[in-house]
Amino acid sequence: MSDVEALKKAAGIAACDFVKTGMKVGLGTGSTVKHTVIELGRRMSEEGLEIVGVPTSLATEELATKVGIPLVELSELDGLDIVIDGADEYDPNFQLIKGGGAALLREKIVAQESAAMVVVADARKRVQTLGAFPLPIEVTPFSHEATVRGLSRLLDCRVNIRMAGNGPVITDNGNMIADAHTGPTIENPIECERNVLMIAGVVQVGLFNGMCDAVVLAGGDGIETFVKPGGRLSQ
Ligand code: 5RP
Repeated sequence: MSDVEALKKAAGIAACDFVKTGMKVGLGTGSTVKHTVIELGRRMSEEGLEIVGVPTSLATEELATKVGIPLVELSELDGLDIVIDGADEYDPNFQLIKGGGAALLREKIVAQESAAMVVVADARKRVQTLGAFPLPIEVTPFSHEATVRGLSRLLDCRVNIRMAGNGPVITDNGNMIADAHTGPTIENPIECERNVLMIAGVVQVGLFNGMCDAVVLAGGDGIETFVKPGGRLSQ
């Protein structure tokens, strides 16, 4: 296992301590949180943990089913206790860029329905200003070229439709992903989110503002958990 993979695994497993029996848990998407899903399945089968999960993607649904986590529809529940998810970047205010795995829409819906959000990440994800990681924006296939032009004008940067081989990446919702190459310039993610969402053709943007309450970070010094002051997990 590579060093980075070992860090991802350590962060993913450590975050499971936020999950207690009886909780309704949002299950994020990506190569870090996959370790959380596997560990939650193990704790259910070996340690008596009892939870239900809501997956944020078809890939996570498949993994959670494989490791034995019972799944429910978000619409059947009156909210979730917690969601654990990865991130592509997080800043000192616990604002996030997500969507590197093209799951940002379901991830944001699940995060919005959760009483708390824990992010699992390795130390490479911590930044001072968001945007070095191209900002993922889910857009409708209809007239996506026009939407991309509008985004490029708005953000004053190159915007590309994400490709997989010869064709565009298609999300679990049948949409496309436009990646905006803003560079590390997103000083005001709340304003940026608001402006991007004004463009018709945009379904959702991968800025998660005011949603993350704690980050479980794996780095050279081991696991560190940063809890957002005044956040929903701060007492
Ligand atoms: C998927 C996401 C992921 O959580 C994000 O890309 C981080 O993934 P990884 O843990 O593989 O680096 O937002 O849409």
